[in-house]
Amino acid sequence: MKYRELIKKMTLEEKASLMSGKDFWQTQEIERLGINSMFLADGPHGIRKQAVAADHLGLNVGIPATCFPTAATVANSWNEELGERVGEYLGEEAISQKVNVLLGPGVNMKRNPLCGRNFQYYSEDPYLAGKMAAGYIRGIQSHGISACVKHFCANNQEERRMAIDTIVDERTLREIYLTAFEIAVKEGRTRAIMSSYNMINGTYTNENMHLMRDILRGEWNYKGCVITDWGGSNDRIAGLLAGNELEMPTTAGETNEEIIKAIKSGKIKEEVLDECVDRLLELIFTTEEVYKRPHIEFDVDKHHRVAQKVAEESIVLLKNEENILPLKYGKKVAVIGDFAKNARYQGAGSSIVNPTILDHTMDCFNESGIISIGYEPGFERYGKKDKKKIEKACELARKADVILLYIGLDEVTEADGLDRQSMSIPENQIELLNALYTVNSNIIAILSCGSAVEMPWISKLKAVLHGYLGGQAGSRAILRILSGDVNPSGKLAETYPIRYEDTPSFHNFPGKEVSVEYREGIYIGYRYYDTASVDVLFPFGYGLSYTTFEYSDIHVSRYGATFKLKNSGNVAGMEIAQLYIGCKSKEIFRPKKELKGFTKIFINAGETKTVTIPFDDKTFRYFNVKTNKWEVEESEYEIMIGASSDDIRVKDTIFIEGTGAPLPYDKAALQSYYSGKTNNVTVEEFERLIGRKVPVSKWDRSKPLGYNDTIAQCQYAKGIFARFSYYMIVFAYWFLRKIGKRSTANIIMMSIYHMPFRGIARVTGGVVNMPMLDGILMMVNGNFFKGLVHLLKERNKKLKSPKNK
Ligand code: BGC
Repeated sequence: MKYRELIKKMTLEEKASLMSGKDFWQTQEIERLGINSMFLADGPHGIRKQAVAADHLGLNVGIPATCFPTAATVANSWNEELGERVGEYLGEEAISQKVNVLLGPGVNMKRNPLCGRNFQYYSEDPYLAGKMAAGYIRGIQSHGISACVKHFCANNQEERRMAIDTIVDERTLREIYLTAFEIAVKEGRTRAIMSSYNMINGTYTNENMHLMRDILRGEWNYKGCVITDWGGSNDRIAGLLAGNELEMPTTAGETNEEIIKAIKSGKIKEEVLDECVDRLLELIFTTEEVYKRPHIEFDVDKHHRVAQKVAEESIVLLKNEENILPLKYGKKVAVIGDFAKNARYQGAGSSIVNPTILDHTMDCFNESGIISIGYEPGFERYGKKDKKKIEKACELARKADVILLYIGLDEVTEADGLDRQSMSIPENQIELLNALYTVNSNIIAILSCGSAVEMPWISKLKAVLHGYLGGQAGSRAILRILSGDVNPSGKLAETYPIRYEDTPSFHNFPGKEVSVEYREGIYIGYRYYDTASVDVLFPFGYGLSYTTFEYSDIHVSRYGATFKLKNSGNVAGMEIAQLYIGCKSKEIFRPKKELKGFTKIFINAGETKTVTIPFDDKTFRYFNVKTNKWEVEESEYEIMIGASSDDIRVKDTIFIEGTGAPLPYDKAALQSYYSGKTNNVTVEEFERLIGRKVPVSKWDRSKPLGYNDTIAQCQYAKGIFARFSYYMIVFAYWFLRKIGKRSTANIIMMSIYHMPFRGIARVTGGVVNMPMLDGILMMVNGNFFKGLVHLLKERNKKLKSPKNK
């Protein structure tokens, strides 16, 4: 232990006090020993430091900070170095706001397009997500502070995120859900990790010995800290044993007391606590170094310009019929769509940034050189139908050569704690498009949203430019691509299915009451569509440019693939070349293609470059559930270089010697997995994959409600009081939506409906403690008066305790 001497000087109480927050964002200090408090702040695409009222739902504004494009956007750049630059700028702003730990990036996989937080995550591919995250982390930590990779792990839905049990087989966990974290730890060298809210195979992640001890600390040799997600701690002692250094936010010392008791009673050894303290001290001492230097304000304008450059490299051109883009000089353009006036540029919830500057399309038009003949909103942002708006938009459209139609999702739809209800954009926007099409068919859509949407209307468009969530300078970046000042170079980091029903987890998202079964196994995103031959709207890795590229002369060696890349068009541009592998042996089931490398290269018109994409430790490995290790299967492998996962331009094969591990599966018992058609696997076959029975996925309605049951379960509680409260909550939600207050309605869902009872104690900062919660549970379970008396008694006890004086 590095701080053994210092730890020896600490009392048990002092050590335990460090194990949870002082308040919502800060850690505890011990003045007499020179141990200062740390400040932790969101977030992944801009600093959300709350100076006054604190919350983890984005309700109260933070100090102004640059809002960079969100992770889903920057992932489309496929540029690790760009990620590193974003990280550097984030780090610089964190320092200027005295933040020790920046709560990001989020590297969860996009298992399903409806996950409400997909906008905060990079990709459906773990390799791409891991590489981008490693770049961010290196950038953030280059300033001496710490990143905090989240949410570890398999937190792939927002619904019931604090209680859901993710049932997943070990191979899928390793290959799909852990690989990005592994890269973040080994290549990004993150110094902090946030455990997720959910359980994995029956145990909360924060207490999961296999995840935290065997894999994270053991196999990956992680020396940093584990921090709970806000209010996510379940059993503090189990968390400590698994190696959790910090529970956030504060519990007003309640769980520190539990630690002290557990040590005094001999339940756990003091050394366990000492080790956690040692790792936490390392984080505190190393991240505070930076504050000893003179304070420097960051350059707001420069950071804004950087945010614009990042957006320019991340925007994806999805369709461009008749080369309508870039816009020809002198064309008269009608700008239609509410998003042109009020940019949609980030998601809601814990990552929300209070931008320093905010560009809106209509304010940047003049400098773009594009000639606008006017603007009409065309639709009401939050979905209300308005015929007048459509008529006015059509009137304008008639006079124009081209229509720029700004459509997408509103900010209430993509948020923490809530999943989307469908993959479509609001009906009133589709109606507008249909009406515009009858008067002028030269329509270019500019999409603003952070996740995949269905586009059954795409044939009515000549071009689609996907801006994703471009941050505070995103609108200007889009205009620069429309005008041709910038050649688009982004490619999709996720697949766009034709219909939601086509997605591999369609039948198993967001799961049943208690659990969600990852029956599709390793086949998420393109791994599924490609292997099961399901047509998609836009494949993973797809994106157009104003120029064209030709691939040739592939040469594969033991070290990687080399090929020639020519810019065969008329303008300079950047191409993202992707390396996929396919194993020719059919002994172990695998996706047809898996991304194992990529590179982004700038090439002048007419120029040819020689490009090499190296292999690495992940190129040929697979996780063998028999040996419980990464192995390599002896086989011929196809090495494919593509412009997208569905557009392989050159390929070759290579023979690779294996590690000689025994075959892990019985082929006949896992036919869906061997065919890749895993969108509707039976429970029996899934049980054969995971090697055990799946747990009961429905709530046990006969049992009294406990700490880990959710408020939603009050619907069948014994106590009339609880059932009444449940119906009040449901009514309030319905009513608020009815009167158009969707955002407030969502807060009810996020922060009340799906919250487990223990969460009441965990997020109220000690206002309600666990003994008081016991009283509440008695009331819920039918002992109203007894519970009320208990609640009041415990409340009085708390108020009279010396700590509250
Ligand atoms: C989110 C985290 C976030 C934390 C603090 C949680 O609800 O899941 O991503 O960092 O709140 O705001």
